[in-house]
Amino acid sequence: MSLIDRILFLIIHGVDKSGIGWHRLPVFLELVYLAIRRRLHDKYNLVNVGKSSRVGVGFNADEVPFRTADGKFNDTVNEGVGGEGSFFGRNMPPVDQKDKLLKPDPMVVATKLLARKELIDTGKQFNVIAASWIQFMIHDWIDHLESTKQIELKAPAEVASECPLKSYKFYETKEVSTGSYEIKKGHLNIRTPWWDGSAVYGTNSSELRQVRTFRDGKLKIADDGLLQHDEEGLPIAGDIRNSWIGVSTLQALFILEHNAICDELKDEYPNLDDEELYRHARLVTSAVIAKIHTIDWTIELLKTDALLVGMRTNWYGLLGKRFKDTFGHVGGAILGGLVGLKKPNNHGVPYSLTEEFTSVYRMHSLLPDQLFIRDIKSIPGPNKSPSLIKKVDMIDLIGKNGEKELSKIGFKTTMVSMGHQACGALELFNYPTWLRNIVPQNLDGTDRPDHIDLASLDIYRDRERNVPRYNDFRRSLFMLPISKWDDLTDDKEAIDMLHEVYDDDVEQLDLLVGMAAEKKIKGFAISETAFIVFLTMASRRLEADRFFTSDFNEEVYTKKGFEWVKRTESLKDVLYRHYPHMIDDWMNSTKLQFEPTSLVSELAYPTPNNTYVPLSQQPTVQQPPSRQQAYQLQDEKSSSDEDADVIPETQPSPPPQPQPKGKSRKGKKLATSKKEATSCWAN
Ligand code: HEM
Repeated sequence: MSLIDRILFLIIHGVDKSGIGWHRLPVFLELVYLAIRRRLHDKYNLVNVGKSSRVGVGFNADEVPFRTADGKFNDTVNEGVGGEGSFFGRNMPPVDQKDKLLKPDPMVVATKLLARKELIDTGKQFNVIAASWIQFMIHDWIDHLESTKQIELKAPAEVASECPLKSYKFYETKEVSTGSYEIKKGHLNIRTPWWDGSAVYGTNSSELRQVRTFRDGKLKIADDGLLQHDEEGLPIAGDIRNSWIGVSTLQALFILEHNAICDELKDEYPNLDDEELYRHARLVTSAVIAKIHTIDWTIELLKTDALLVGMRTNWYGLLGKRFKDTFGHVGGAILGGLVGLKKPNNHGVPYSLTEEFTSVYRMHSLLPDQLFIRDIKSIPGPNKSPSLIKKVDMIDLIGKNGEKELSKIGFKTTMVSMGHQACGALELFNYPTWLRNIVPQNLDGTDRPDHIDLASLDIYRDRERNVPRYNDFRRSLFMLPISKWDDLTDDKEAIDMLHEVYDDDVEQLDLLVGMAAEKKIKGFAISETAFIVFLTMASRRLEADRFFTSDFNEEVYTKKGFEWVKRTESLKDVLYRHYPHMIDDWMNSTKLQFEPTSLVSELAYPTPNNTYVPLSQQPTVQQPPSRQQAYQLQDEKSSSDEDADVIPETQPSPPPQPQPKGKSRKGKKLATSKKEATSCWAN
């Protein structure tokens, strides 16, 4: 470590040791602390694993100005980086646990420390849309290749009576030789780790072919605004494995978004062919997804002033949105933001997502036990809350059965219901019991014969993949380890159980358990341990990708496409584009879409510490346009109808007709895709 880095380390270490808590400092100092951390983690916590195929084979970016189906040809120095089937990287050295895979037994850990006793929810902070969103992202970024070897886990007698499965079988994670001396074996990511919308488009050309219509660049979508299905009843989308209706509705929404972008581009540039329209629309849709995640979802997840500033700075830079929208990217990463940097920055390590990233995203406790279905034909109650019709067990909303149920419930009812329900909290004793007996799926969405207990499998996977246990994990991230259980939590019941399961050996504490037990920072829905991994990886997803840096411009995205990204600030903007009646009728007028809407607070941005948020970083509280203004851009269907808003795009479009500017080619105008509507939403 260089002298400067040692000094920087001592600063953050001193803050941590002082017990003040970096999150209690004034915003400016919090940001300095986080900036130091990011520098250190970028230098010491990015570890390359293996060699991507065709290492060192470069190419000219101008020849590939689009996202390829399998993620290759993004990094101009090395075409294989971030491709389907590339290695998971690491944030820290692996810790071999082959002799400790069952210590303590994963079924014991799951039963005594994870299993939900009574639902603990996130209160006002996060709704079920937010939980679905992060799963939608996971299905864009990561999935491990399995081997053909099966492993069996058996419940020890002490917990067997409380385990939904007394034993179960699953496939081992496939270990592959890396060809490298340092880390000899690694695991392969069967999704593309870039932020390229692969949950919508798939991770290779054959999956992409399934979802495209090959007309006007568009993707397949059913008349009711939901995913189309094949003859087996399986949904047609980029990724359908281990999914449920929450994810499926988001996939359908972003297919509508993609198709609306195609319409806009075709209107503006009639000479673009199907392939060109698809490529541009994919770039724009992926950027919209990344932007929503960065400046909408994450600031709800980490609801503090510092993170609001931090995340908006990642996108817009300290100079802020207004400046960037007017003058473009000026200055480096801090002034101008990561997005639009002159060239990508991978900090000397080829881009990948990591094993540790996978581990901190094991957030199955976000899921509730039931989805509360709301009546969107009722008269809205206080805070626009619709009355409850029924509660449906989550287990009935996954896979093929879930899709059948969704076609009865409909998009709008599902979205409104998810929006009005808080999701589960990432705490001990809150892992959904129904996930302890589920049918896992193959890549093609078909069911496997053996049920699994996901809670214990989550524990097993981290050990199998050599992810360090909690204390070592924190040490590798320059964080303080714990020396006794009271350092972790004040919860007496939890401490007793930790004693019982880990025999007082804090070094054996599993990462997932430690993160759930950890005292949370005020405003954070996740643990500080997980947050430190996010800090590095959230920035990396943007700054290492040429389509968010050197190729984030009008030339590559088209002028219209680039404007589309600029004017989209939140999930609400996207929902409003396609379902304005639904938003006006059932969702509150604040900007953020991830709070349980019936509980939403008046403010659209976090102020837990009442400290200073620079003006350039304050999101404008966006008021919805007047109904008249919004609906004049929509068709005349009744808003009480489940299908009222949707603009389906299943069939090939009719031949282009001359249209007045501002109309889609189906004769229906899209709310925010046109200039007059944009002003309602853009800052
Ligand atoms: C109905 C909802 C869900 C179902 C049925 C489901 C099911 C599964 C299954 C079967 C696995 C593979 C287990 C294995 O073999 O290792 C898995 C992995 C995973 N899930 Fe979920 N899950 C759901 C929701 C979520 C949510 C909300 C998150 C939140 C981030 C999430 C994050 C993950 C992660 C990070 C992995 C590991 C992926 C990997 O190994 O590469 N899942 N899930």
